[in-house]
Amino acid sequence: MRILSIETSCDETSFALIDTDGETVTVYAHNTLSQIEKHREYGGVFPSLAKREHAINAVPLLEKTLTESGIDHEAVTINGETREHIKHLLVREEGLADKLTTLCDAKGKPQGVDAITVTHGPGLEPALWVGINIAKSLSAIWDVPVIPANHIEGHIASLALTSFTFPFSEPQTNQLAELPFPAITLIVSGGHTELVRVTDWGVYQPLGKTKDDAVGEAFDKVARLLDLPYPGGPEISQLAAEARESGIKADQVLKRPMIDSDDYQFSFSGIKTAVRYRVDEGTPLSQTDKQALAREFEEAVIDVLVHKAQAAIAAYGDNALFVTGGVSANPWLREQCAALKTKQDVAVYMAPPALTGDNALMMALAGFYRAQYAPELVLPDPDEIAAIGNLRLTERIIDKKERT
Ligand code: KG4
Ligand code: ZN
Repeated sequence: MRILSIETSCDETSFALIDTDGETVTVYAHNTLSQIEKHREYGGVFPSLAKREHAINAVPLLEKTLTESGIDHEAVTINGETREHIKHLLVREEGLADKLTTLCDAKGKPQGVDAITVTHGPGLEPALWVGINIAKSLSAIWDVPVIPANHIEGHIASLALTSFTFPFSEPQTNQLAELPFPAITLIVSGGHTELVRVTDWGVYQPLGKTKDDAVGEAFDKVARLLDLPYPGGPEISQLAAEARESGIKADQVLKRPMIDSDDYQFSFSGIKTAVRYRVDEGTPLSQTDKQALAREFEEAVIDVLVHKAQAAIAAYGDNALFVTGGVSANPWLREQCAALKTKQDVAVYMAPPALTGDNALMMALAGFYRAQYAPELVLPDPDEIAAIGNLRLTERIIDKKERT
C-alpha cells in the first residue's frame, strides 16, 4: 500500500510518503518541521499559533516530500466543483486552498498512491484540523481514500521501525519489527502518561493513566521553574546526566508520587510543586543546585514509571514491554527500561531516538495497521472525519457518531 501521511496534532508539521505490505516499509521521503522556536517564548505550545504555522508550512513541506520521493507523478485535472469544495474546506486558512491546488495543478499525483493517512486525534483540535482538511482536499484531487489515524497508536507503531537509520537521503527499505503481543505499554509524552496492555493491533486494555499532569508536561514545568527553555525534557535530562557524571546529588529526596498506590495510576503535579517549594526557598539556585534538582526530579519520576511498568509485567505475566512517546527519548528512562530485559526477562521495545517525537512516518504505519485490522473503521466518506482532541486509544471512529 502506497501512503501519503500527514501529522499536525501538536507543534510538528510532518509528511511521509511510504510503501508497506506489513512486512517491510520503504520510506521514499519523510519531512518534519518543528515549530519549537516559535512556541518557546510562550513556554509551551500555543494552539492558534500551531495551527497558523501548520497552514503556512504544510504545502512547501508536502511539495518537498513529493519531490524528494523520486516517485513519478501523473497529471490530474481538478474540476470546478472540486476547486469549490477545497476552497470551502480550507476557508479558515487564508491562501491555503490556492497554494494546494496550484501545487497539484503543477505536480499532479504520485503514481500508485493508494491512501492518505492523517492524525485525527488526540491533539490540539485547531492544529489537527489543518492536517485533516489538507487530507480531505488531496483525497478529492487524487481520488484516494483517507484513513484517520490515532496519534497514540502512531507512537506504538513507531516501535516497529527499529531498523531505520536517520537521517537518510535515499529511499530506505527495511523489515518491520514483528512486535510480540501481548505487551505492557508505557505511553509517555507531553500530553499523555498511560499504561496500556496491547494484546494485538487495535486491541487495547487500559490499565491506568495520570490523574493530572502528563510526565512530559511535568518535565516542561519543572524546566520552567529552573529557568530552562521549552521543551524542558531534553534540558532536564542533560542537567541530570551531568549531575550523575559528577556525582552531584540533591540533599533532599523527592517523594516518588503514588509509587505504593497498588494500581497503575500516576500523578505528577505534586512533585512539580515540591520542586517549586525548593526553588522558592530563598537563595537563587546555583548551576550545581539545578543539576542536583534535575537529577532528583528525573530519577523520582522515572522510578515511578519503571516501578508501575514492572508491576504490570509481573501481574499479567507478559514477556514484552513497549515504551513510547516523546519522553521515551529520555536516556535515563531508556536505560532503566532496558535493564528490565535482564531483571524481568522481558523483550523491551523503544522507538529509534529520531522517531520518539511526533512524525508522519509512524502515523503512516498506524493508518496501515488500522486499515488491516479494522477496515470497517476506515470511513468511506473522508468528509466525515473530524478532529477529536481527546480521542482515546480504545475509541473506535464509529463511536464518534454516537458521541455527537
Ligand atoms: O510525543 P511528543 O513529541 O508530543 C506529544 O504528543 O506530547 O512529546 C513531547 C514531550 C515534551 O513534553 C518534551 O519535554 C518531552 O516529550 N521530552 C522529554 C525528552 N525529550 C522530549 N522528556 C524527558 N526527557 C527527554 N529527553
Ligand atoms: Zn506525540
